[in-house]
Amino acid sequence: MQELPARRSLSHRMESRLADLARQAQLRKLCPSQGINLSSNDYLGLAEDPRLKAGLLDAVESCTKTGSTGSRLMNGDDPAWNELEEEFAIFTGCEASLFFNSGYAANVGLLSVLLGQDDLVFSDALNHASIIDGIRLSRAKKVIYEHTDLNSLEHLLRQHRNHGHACVIVTESIFSMDGDRAPLPEIFQLASCYGAEVIIDEAHATGVCGPQGSGLAKESGLEPLAVIHTCGKALASMGAFVCGSKTLRRFLINHARSFIFSTALPRYCAEQVKVALRLAMNMEDERHHLGALAASLKNRLSELGHSCGPGTSHIIPLIVGSNAAAIHLADMLNRQGFSVYAVRPPSVPAGSARLRLSLTARLDLSDIEQFINILSSIPVTQHHA
Ligand SMILES: Cc1ncc(COP(=O)(O)O)c(C=O)c1O
Repeated sequence: MQELPARRSLSHRMESRLADLARQAQLRKLCPSQGINLSSNDYLGLAEDPRLKAGLLDAVESCTKTGSTGSRLMNGDDPAWNELEEEFAIFTGCEASLFFNSGYAANVGLLSVLLGQDDLVFSDALNHASIIDGIRLSRAKKVIYEHTDLNSLEHLLRQHRNHGHACVIVTESIFSMDGDRAPLPEIFQLASCYGAEVIIDEAHATGVCGPQGSGLAKESGLEPLAVIHTCGKALASMGAFVCGSKTLRRFLINHARSFIFSTALPRYCAEQVKVALRLAMNMEDERHHLGALAASLKNRLSELGHSCGPGTSHIIPLIVGSNAAAIHLADMLNRQGFSVYAVRPPSVPAGSARLRLSLTARLDLSDIEQFINILSSIPVTQHHA
């Protein structure tokens, strides 16, 4: 076969871009977690709960088919999904919900079809990539406001107040990388003053925050246009719900491409999510314990002089600065038996590479103490940028 000149060869381009990443200490590699886990999204510890495993095994046993064999609109639907969607809607206090195969698919599916190119989206600067991609696909005009900053949001809302088309504010409730909370009541107040609607991604609050883990939107009694709840984190399962009105549900069934053009998950997945949801609703002790672990870790890190941001949730960023320093610190801690990962741009802003510490109720306070002891034994000069 004729060899392509370097500039036209895609293999060559891939090699060169990977080499660029390596030079910037940005190259990512897959590596399974080992040791004491301080980086899992299994916030309630359900991933290793024998009751959930038993529920899944029962569901698999009772299913005649291992695959759904089609999208929900084409042969892949099952009454179990509708029942689950109704149960989840009641859980979150919404009229209806629709299940997507992942949180990524939910955000992209929802935002890309809800908004059109004449619309305006006010998006928090630290929103998740799936939100960003959904907005991009919609071709709506994106206005980014400073992270959780109400002055910045109000300034931008005021600036665009005579826009004349739909305006939406999109925010996570607990932010995935910083672990801080969006000021939801104040955001709603601004939305109502300036004629905007609100969409909330509860990925890191689902199962953890609000009454029975039903999220911060429900807790605050507000009525967003849509709320996204993912099931791969605290519910230790898969997929995500978009919750809202019956009209929203019907609209998504008819328009959301990531729903329409994707094979439904098998029925036993619906059963697994149902079991996980019912268990999670009653895990008040685990939620309480998770809060105590987070408060203890945050206190101990502050005592050591680490910068961990303003959040108070189960996600604690140990901000290091440079990519190389974050990788080095993660590596040292891995060797000492802790599963922690360096998170680098573009997942976080440049210069704020970090270890994203996320806690699970499976840990106990002695794990936190052990971590702090090891961390404090690593010379500061080695892990600060
Ligand atoms: C805020 C947020 N939204 C959506 C997602 C995507 O969810 P999933 O992993 O189910 O695709 C994530 C995942 O990390 C997230 O952090």
